[in-house]
Amino acid sequence: MNLSAVSKTLFIPLSARIFASKNFPEYFYDEKALSLEKIVQTNCESVQEKSSEYALMASAARYYNMDDIVRKFCAKYPKCNVVYLGAGLETACFRLKITNASFCEIDLREVIELRRRVLGECANEALVGCDMFDMAWVRRINESLPTLFVACGVFQYFKRDQVLNLIRELKNAFKNAELMFDATNEAGLKYANKYVKSVGNDEAIMRFCVEDGYKFALEAGVNLIEERVFFADVRKILAKRLKFATRLIMKFVDFTKRAKILHFDLKC
Ligand SMILES: C[S@@+](CC[C@H](N)C(=O)[O-])C[C@H]1O[C@@H](n2cnc3c(N)ncnc32)[C@H](O)[C@@H]1O
Repeated sequence: MNLSAVSKTLFIPLSARIFASKNFPEYFYDEKALSLEKIVQTNCESVQEKSSEYALMASAARYYNMDDIVRKFCAKYPKCNVVYLGAGLETACFRLKITNASFCEIDLREVIELRRRVLGECANEALVGCDMFDMAWVRRINESLPTLFVACGVFQYFKRDQVLNLIRELKNAFKNAELMFDATNEAGLKYANKYVKSVGNDEAIMRFCVEDGYKFALEAGVNLIEERVFFADVRKILAKRLKFATRLIMKFVDFTKRAKILHFDLKC
């Protein structure tokens, strides 16, 4: 399988979803991710061994929080779209079982080919193989419906101008849309780059970070709906079942807002 350096990173969050589903199903459970365990072992066998409990649970916490935001968005409307940018092998459509939303998974052609082969597609899901920066994919989506864009573990790999330009294009193309993505601050970006290197992806360099969600909203010309830290719930739900070091780092990361989920309204 011929995947780019950034595309190969898709096995890292998938490994984390498998780890959390096996070890902490009361916090996060993803049956479809578990069914992909063999594929992860073949392509990227050592992520779990080379990762700390903290690193794996940080990744799982993104899905826990993003799933909550997707559920709340879909509950507001009789019909809507949820569009995953850089979807990789994201299994949200299977995990969330939301029937009033049309899901659209956008990723590079070779990744979508892999995805189609190993995951198939849900009845309410469209798979689109293209560069997310080439806005031709917009034609595949009913833009009259409320739309939530989700970019999980994706924007980090691009330049600030590319991200800002994409947000501008989304605002122009969709009149009623929201966007959420995860980001770290600069200190968090250094840690994230070290981590991705340590699990064997030396060429996938992360560049984009956000220090302050409100300031970023001003820069991008959008409205901040929420800036959410990762670990508020997991620290309560799993408490001492997590290692002491994991809990300590989670507390520090939340306190310093090193990692967060940013949720914006694109209409303004
Ligand atoms: C770290 S993976 C995250 C995958 C998925 N969002 C998840 O959470 O499991 C980054 C993804 O971004 C995709 N990607 C990179 N450049 C892209 C582009 N220009 N257009 C669409 N997808 C892209 C990669 O192929 C890869 O699947």
